[in-house]
Amino acid sequence: MVDARITVNGKVQPLSPAAPHTTVLDFLRDRGLTGSKEGCAEGECGACSVLVARPGVNRPTDWVAVNACLVPAAALDGQEIVTAEGLGNLDATGVPTELHPVQQEMAVRGGSQCGYCTPGFICSMASEYYRPGRCGAAPAAEAEVEAHGHEDDHEHGPNGFDLHSLSGNLCRCTGYRPIRDAAFALGAPSEEDPLAQRRDEPAPAPVATEYSRDDRTFRRPETLAEAVQLLRDVPGAVLVAGSTDWGVEVNIRARRADYVIAIDRLPELRSLRVESDYIEVGAAVPLTEIERRLDGSVPLLAQLFPQFASRLIRNNATFGGNLGTGSPIGDSPPALLALGASVVLASADGERVVELADYFTGYRQSVRRADELIQAVRIPLPLAPVTAFHKIAKRRFDDISSVAVAFALDIEDGLVRSARIGLGGVAATPIRARDTEAALVGKAWSAEVVEAAAAVLQSEGTPMSDHRASAAYRAAMLGQSLKKLYAQTTEAVLS
Ligand code: FES
Ligand code: FES
Repeated sequence: MVDARITVNGKVQPLSPAAPHTTVLDFLRDRGLTGSKEGCAEGECGACSVLVARPGVNRPTDWVAVNACLVPAAALDGQEIVTAEGLGNLDATGVPTELHPVQQEMAVRGGSQCGYCTPGFICSMASEYYRPGRCGAAPAAEAEVEAHGHEDDHEHGPNGFDLHSLSGNLCRCTGYRPIRDAAFALGAPSEEDPLAQRRDEPAPAPVATEYSRDDRTFRRPETLAEAVQLLRDVPGAVLVAGSTDWGVEVNIRARRADYVIAIDRLPELRSLRVESDYIEVGAAVPLTEIERRLDGSVPLLAQLFPQFASRLIRNNATFGGNLGTGSPIGDSPPALLALGASVVLASADGERVVELADYFTGYRQSVRRADELIQAVRIPLPLAPVTAFHKIAKRRFDDISSVAVAFALDIEDGLVRSARIGLGGVAATPIRARDTEAALVGKAWSAEVVEAAAAVLQSEGTPMSDHRASAAYRAAMLGQSLKKLYAQTTEAVLS
């Protein structure tokens, strides 16, 4: 195996002597690339954002912005990244001679004051600048708006710029208006732009990695068979996919795993298939990729994704990770419960399929054995026609749920034929609201039935009081959520 190395701004950098738990952010800063900043070290501020070349959804390569503070540097062995220092034109010695269009717009529109957040904003903005499908003209021609479906609304600019791409970047002093002005002023990349051209070449393939220092190892197996055998042979090994949880454990809780197995690039965990009776989503497909590939065809997930953390997190986070950590306030379990999903678990013995409703057994516990990993999530077809995802949190985006409620109902001729309701934040595990489902099925979709079922829903689970919300508030929000769904489907307003 060749020594681990990462191509940073066009130059190959050996990973050695970094420890296996070293994050990309620390790796960069240790090499003098101090443009990427550490604000929070837990994926909330975006000051550390960098661009990674990944296999594209519509082109050979996409430039994807990720939180460098969360990603193990060893996970990028053989990969290419670009930091804020690598944007713009550089001379032969790597010194910038001309600003990148994103940097230029941020500068002339006053998008930076202290500058601490700016390199992170620049990288997130550059990722959106290069996104295939962004119409890229400012202002947009009518034909382009029609072709790409973007109105000049409060979340998209006239140039198709999606402000959600900046939802993981915080600025404490400039204010967001000039940053938005810079984003909305961006045109299309020029033909000579090297990063635009780079999108037409294949992204670096994943490489098998075994990187050890001081009795600790980061290992990237090539196949699922190899991964599950390692999982059996190395008890206590930690699995990482998107590493959005791993990074927090390393940075905030000082966790140093002896053995880490990276499964994010295993081909068996990266597929998304639509069969006649189910959709199978690989456990390691990043949420952004699922969002773009499903393109709204699963409306409940289309509602979930914008409310799941930030774009920076969704660029790495996976269903496998969200289910694997078993958090009771993860946002995907309620939606997947409502969709009636099951999980495919793989081990050296083969695979087994478990209904998600039977998967969680206690606080951060599940039926998954220590030698198993989540290979995929299966969503049965056909989908229920009436679906909604209601996340109650203090902020609209990039926040942790106080409670989350997902509905999947089949209402025909005014009668509820079937109902699945998933809840998060009201018990030690995500749960199905079985009593409420029973209170609805076979009944008229009427104000009286919904009022009665809302009272049942309020009593589901055992919500707690904590710094996010009181138990009473959480229970009240459950009831309101069903009434809101009724109002959305009938335009009637209940008290
Ligand atoms: Fe805040 Fe990485 S330092 S997201
Ligand atoms: Fe100071 Fe954004 S420019 S935090």
